[in-house]
Amino acid sequence: MCQSTWHDFLRGLPKCEHHVHLEGCLTPELIFQLAEKNNVQLPDPKSEPAYESIQTLTARYGHFSSLDDFLHFYFIGMSVLNQESDFADLAWAYFLKAHADGVHHAEVFFDPQVHQDRGIPYETIVAGFVAGCKRAETELGLSTRLILCFVRHLPVESAKKTYQDILDSRHFESDIIHGLGWSSTEVGPPKDMYREIYASASERGVRLTAHAGEEGDPTYISTALELGATRIDHGIRLVEDPVLMERIAKEGVLLTVCPLSNVQLKCVKTVAEVPIRKFLDAGVKFSINSDDPAYFGGYILDNYCAVHEAFGLSVAEWRTIAENSVSESWIGDERKAELYKSIEVHVAKFAELA
Ligand code: ADE
Ligand code: ZN
Repeated sequence: MCQSTWHDFLRGLPKCEHHVHLEGCLTPELIFQLAEKNNVQLPDPKSEPAYESIQTLTARYGHFSSLDDFLHFYFIGMSVLNQESDFADLAWAYFLKAHADGVHHAEVFFDPQVHQDRGIPYETIVAGFVAGCKRAETELGLSTRLILCFVRHLPVESAKKTYQDILDSRHFESDIIHGLGWSSTEVGPPKDMYREIYASASERGVRLTAHAGEEGDPTYISTALELGATRIDHGIRLVEDPVLMERIAKEGVLLTVCPLSNVQLKCVKTVAEVPIRKFLDAGVKFSINSDDPAYFGGYILDNYCAVHEAFGLSVAEWRTIAENSVSESWIGDERKAELYKSIEVHVAKFAELA
């Protein structure tokens, strides 16, 4: 953990989180608890020993070999969510933690297709997560945005059904679904599998992001941009294509970087290998995020601290990161002005570090 004054500075620095999967906030404790409550059968420990106990599952999470190895556990984990209140409680648990870590604004992902696939209605999932978001806004003063992610391991037809559910429920018009993203297995399925959906959503003015350049090479990033994404989730392999990196810097595309996730999923060996310094030097905007905190051993503040330990950034650099996180948030100018002001006030309190 970073030195105490720096820790206080980083904890209190007003943060925007843009990359957290609500289902990635399901801790092993909660998985076992909800499985019992909802009568959901977890895998037999004879075939999947990780599910012997909370302790064995936690220990297994420390040894992911790749994104797909992690996703196997992630999709089992989310199978315990059944009732609207399960979704609401999960979101609330995340917001409480985020608030304690200094998050003022959170844009959160969820993966409805995976729940719908096992018979949970779209309305139940959305109503639960919206209730969690509303509670965070009322009780914690956070601003929130819900981003629906399509999952690349399921057929595109499944995504089209979910897209139709959004249209039927008019969730774009009512701003219940603030944006779309895609996630899950990166390398394998066609890079442009959501071309039709993204074209339709673009026409409606829906904000688009995409997981790209996590395990996949920079062409996954350029394809996402070609399909209309204006933000890239992860994007760490961007450094392999200097021309694309220059374009991303020029266009102000935000990368939502998740350092501890990258280490846990073996995309990099250490946080020091995440191209934070290269992005700063190239003027690439990025935010620092937790991705799946219950699986990767750290929430957003742990990620901030790990970056500070690896790169020893200055107060001015942290301020730039915090301000870029505000400028590229999917919120209005009034809320942005409030957040800039709180950053300014916070930084002024830590003049001794400058
Ligand atoms: N879904 C949850 N976490 C993910 C990640 N890191 N990459 C792709 N899909 C995900
Ligand atoms: Zn992610």
